[in-house]
Amino acid sequence: MSEDLWVEKYRPKKMSDVIGNEQAKAAFTEWLKSKTRRKKAVLLHGPPGIGKTALINAAAKDHSYRIVEMNASDTRTESTINKIALPATTSFALDEFSADRKENLLFLDEVDGVFGNQDKGGITAIVKIIEESKIPIILAANNVENQKLRPLKKVCEYIRFQQIRTPLIIMALQKICRGEHVKAEFEALEKIAENSQGDLRSAINDLQRLAGDKHHLILQDTLVLSSRNKDVDIYETLKGVFLAKSFVKALNILNRSRVDFDELLLSMSDNIPNRYQNSIELGRAYDLVSRADVFTGRIARENWNLLKYVSSYIAEAATVNPQSYKQFELITPPIRIIKLFWTRGKRTTLDNICAKIGHRCHISKSTAKEDVIPYIKAIMQQEKSDPLAVWLNLEAEEVEYIKKMDKI
Ligand SMILES: Nc1ncnc2c1ncn2[C@@H]1O[C@H](COP(=O)(O)OP(=O)(O)OP(=O)(O)O)[C@@H](O)[C@H]1O
Ligand SMILES: [Mg+2]
Repeated sequence: MSEDLWVEKYRPKKMSDVIGNEQAKAAFTEWLKSKTRRKKAVLLHGPPGIGKTALINAAAKDHSYRIVEMNASDTRTESTINKIALPATTSFALDEFSADRKENLLFLDEVDGVFGNQDKGGITAIVKIIEESKIPIILAANNVENQKLRPLKKVCEYIRFQQIRTPLIIMALQKICRGEHVKAEFEALEKIAENSQGDLRSAINDLQRLAGDKHHLILQDTLVLSSRNKDVDIYETLKGVFLAKSFVKALNILNRSRVDFDELLLSMSDNIPNRYQNSIELGRAYDLVSRADVFTGRIARENWNLLKYVSSYIAEAATVNPQSYKQFELITPPIRIIKLFWTRGKRTTLDNICAKIGHRCHISKSTAKEDVIPYIKAIMQQEKSDPLAVWLNLEAEEVEYIKKMDKI
């Protein structure tokens, strides 16, 4: 990540630079300094952008620990966890002889990411490592409500971090303004702080975006923050998830986003071909989007709990391979496939066709009708469409029907 980013430039160097959450910080320090820890691991949890990762890195510096880190971009499978974490937690002896004799500390950031869609015994492996570890282990997560994280409760002390209060955010922004020679109206900083809802990272990013080039900032400049509309939200969410460096980062963005997931899914489909040049990545992304789509249908019918699967699949589709990201022009709002016009007399055949497509593609009949048939027609009108017809279980007359459909 670029050093030009103020969030990086002003990353806390010492624990005392980390603002807010005084009680949680004190509990964490006490745990770290204690020789007789009740639990060998500690889990810092709370919303994004409030300094959890920053605190842990600063604490290691303050207390001279060498951090062995596994972050979410490492694949969190049992075997990779064991490969990285196990040697660190057991190779005590090596450090006795190393030059700086710093004690190791294992840091597992974003553990909720273990349960992306790659859960392969990851949590069990972590619990085992904690139980057997000779060194302190620190974990961080946004959301500990996830059922799958429950086994950690036995072996970790949980410390909850809260959003940063607005006055503290304003003070942090003022400090950055001094460092960057930005003259800012108090009301403008207040507006940015309030808008961030306690997320200092996003407040600093907003400040840089609004004042970075011009070195002054007035309240009026911040109006863009409140004049958000649906398309802006979709645009920002898409930009965020595609730029995310890991599945968990993308998931965090989605969890905070207020966009309608149906709209977002359409936009994802529109943008994925420009995002992924590699056909395997593209195929994977489409597969994930289609899985998300299955759940959006079920949410409406069954329950809202399923929303987390939708966001999880969207996050994964956006981060199939973060390394291959190249800037591209985002398409928003979603391109609605031209509405179809149907006459009553044709309904039955059409209904059957839509039901078959819906069944095969895990979508509703109306989605099949509106979003899929135009493509199928285009494919059928080319020569080699037989495999598709077979796959969709379409009769010869149904294929002819689709080919002849004119009003699309
Ligand atoms: N409490 C804080 N004190 C000082 N700076 C902070 C604080 N919280 C966030 N920041 C700023 O925001 C950046 C991001 O913070 P950090 O990575 O620690 O957040 P986090 O809580 O770990 O978020 P996530 O849950 O998304 O991982 C830091 O580099 C720093 O610039
Ligand atoms: Mg973090």
